[in-house]
Amino acid sequence: MTAILNLAGKVAVITGAASGIGRQTATLFHALGARLLLTDIDADGLAAFAAELGGDVLTATHDVTSEEAWHAVFGQVDAAFGRLDILVNNAGIMVSKPFADAGIEVLRRQMAINVEGIYVGMRGALPLMRATVAAGAPTTSIVNISSVYGKVGGAQFAAYSATKGAVRALSKAVAIELAGTGIRVNTVLPGPVATNLGASWEPPTDADGHPLTPEAALAAWTTLIPMGRLGEATDIAPLIAFLASDAAAFITGSEFIADGGYTAA
Ligand SMILES: NC(=O)c1ccc[n+]([C@@H]2O[C@H](COP(=O)([O-])OP(=O)(O)OC[C@H]3O[C@@H](n4cnc5c(N)ncnc54)[C@H](O)[C@@H]3O)[C@@H](O)[C@H]2O)c1
Repeated sequence: MTAILNLAGKVAVITGAASGIGRQTATLFHALGARLLLTDIDADGLAAFAAELGGDVLTATHDVTSEEAWHAVFGQVDAAFGRLDILVNNAGIMVSKPFADAGIEVLRRQMAINVEGIYVGMRGALPLMRATVAAGAPTTSIVNISSVYGKVGGAQFAAYSATKGAVRALSKAVAIELAGTGIRVNTVLPGPVATNLGASWEPPTDADGHPLTPEAALAAWTTLIPMGRLGEATDIAPLIAFLASDAAAFITGSEFIADGGYTAA
């Protein structure tokens, strides 16, 4: 029987691949036979990870907010592979701040990475993806990483929530416009997952305004998850791989939650 999750021969770009969900997605894609160009703003972390994966993995140091950097990434993909089957827009940041203290720069910085980066990346991918479909690929796939905070609010995450809600709406609009082209666009909404995303936080505060330790913040989240645990990157990567694969050929403009029941409660 053919495995449902099969990415053999497909060419994939994954952003934010040096850490967390992107790293785990790259590991799974590699195991499933995809040819990879991994990108991250963290050049050293990405190089170390790519060396672990094996010599056939290409990398690019890439700030997703830069249109020029995206152009270089797609030029590299074209030169190396001459096709692009999959784009995973995973790179992102999350800033926690009480709304009253969060000036407009807090929103703008997250918008630039979490939303503009995806907007520019999707546009840049179109010519190669169109050519890949014209060359006979059944479909090509863009998977954008949103968050459950794009669906429900999170106290002290107003700007982050705004960016992740924008990712959902952006993805649906582009999916509809491209639906007849063989380019699919879907969104994944992870719940709280243990990664480095919180490393640059200003920690959330408790009801008295005292900063929570990262451990206390994670523990507080865990109590909100019906399954009683945080997610792991390994809980998210298979969903991304499914949406990237031809098994999802009839799925576009949809969004998929993996959150241990967080948003069902
Ligand atoms: N961890 C969670 O709880 C959670 C929940 C929901 C959604 N998400 C989303 O999942 C995605 C991955 O997050 P993660 O949890 O794996 O975090 P992470 O911090 O472990 O990994 C994010 C990666 O993105 C890279 N990055 C940051 N800014 C960049 C830029 N400007 N250009 C290119 N790369 C950049 C970082 O260097 C890092 O390697 C993000 O979009 C995040 O918002 C995470």
